[in-house]
Amino acid sequence: MMKFPQDFLWGAATSAYQVEGGNVNSDWWQWEKDRGLENSGRGSRHYEFYEQDFDLAKDLNHNAHRLSIEWSRIEPSDGKFSQEEIKHYIDVIISLRSRNIEPMVTLHHFTNPVWFAKSGGWESQQSVAKFLRYCDFVTRALAKHVHYWITINEPMIYIPHAYILGVWPPQAKSLLKAKKVEDNLVSAHIRTYCLIHKIYKESNLLEPSISIAQNMQAFVPCAPNLKNRFAAYLRDKWYNFGFLDKIMRHKAMDFIGVNYYSRQLVELKKWGIVNLAMDVCKNNHHPVKKNSLGWDIYPEGLCEVLLKLRKYSLPVIITENGICTSDDDLRWEYIYGHLENIHFAMEKGVNVTGYLYWSLMDNFEWDRGFSPRFGLIDIDYNTYRRTIRESARKFSQVCKTGLI
Ligand code: BGC
Repeated sequence: MMKFPQDFLWGAATSAYQVEGGNVNSDWWQWEKDRGLENSGRGSRHYEFYEQDFDLAKDLNHNAHRLSIEWSRIEPSDGKFSQEEIKHYIDVIISLRSRNIEPMVTLHHFTNPVWFAKSGGWESQQSVAKFLRYCDFVTRALAKHVHYWITINEPMIYIPHAYILGVWPPQAKSLLKAKKVEDNLVSAHIRTYCLIHKIYKESNLLEPSISIAQNMQAFVPCAPNLKNRFAAYLRDKWYNFGFLDKIMRHKAMDFIGVNYYSRQLVELKKWGIVNLAMDVCKNNHHPVKKNSLGWDIYPEGLCEVLLKLRKYSLPVIITENGICTSDDDLRWEYIYGHLENIHFAMEKGVNVTGYLYWSLMDNFEWDRGFSPRFGLIDIDYNTYRRTIRESARKFSQVCKTGLI
């Protein structure tokens, strides 16, 4: 048996666009329509049913919950802030607090308001100032109720998808643009970090805890030859640590938010920048179980990446870890395997203070639509009926006892 600390944070994560429904002023909404993709539509109707969803989280013994604020609701047009929508999020957070569930608030989770995207999005010189103005408004409204903040979700997933591979809006394929966006996101994080701390100080509130959610992968050379090892090393440096190292230089982190899902088998086909960054092995040389999107299940990779975070000497919270599958036994096996590896890392000195499963409920998986099922809670998309999965009940025992 392995025991986690008494005050460990246990719970699940969501993002506004993926669960709320009806985010009509978001660039993703527009993009789905333009491309004729499956529409996020009513999402999981969490905007209406959040009380009921948090009741379920409470029944499952969660003591923490990560959610995001949809910028396009708060600021539907440039500089016009909605009192009604910020009131909604205050209510959402109070409703978590009233159940003794610690909220963790994400300010940017992939989506932007349409007006922001139209004015150049994250490539624009104005982007950082516009983002700060929104963060200022939200922080002042929520500070009293919130201790944990995530400024930006997975910059190193957002940048490649939206600006290099061109599979997410604004569908750019340009290293130059990607670099500009990265610089702006680094600056947005650092300045938001300082801004939030300043607001708490001015308001005499206890210091907040702020991070980004950094997606980390295990990069494993397919055949361990020199070129694959070199490419794996570079990818680890770029995807896992590039953004983190930049903001750490400014000491702009209070904890490290880690999102971990899978490993990547690195096989360099030829020498070239894009190849070094992206080539993967498509053969099944090292068969492992997979999720329904074909991602390798590789729990030991979580321990490996956590050990590398020791260099920062900061607490770590697993801000996302989860599996999409129709096999609920596999979901439990996935959760258990990853918790075991978190514990191994803790035994070796990594100060992990929380684990948030992705996701509380089934939701809209971006360009993959509604079919991938990540939820602890099943959603019937015809009736929006919620049903707790067996894996969620097993996880709830861990949340209750701290034992695996
Ligand atoms: C993202 C989530 C997404 C999940 C599963 C993470 O990269 O933060 O929005 O749904 O992975 O793909």
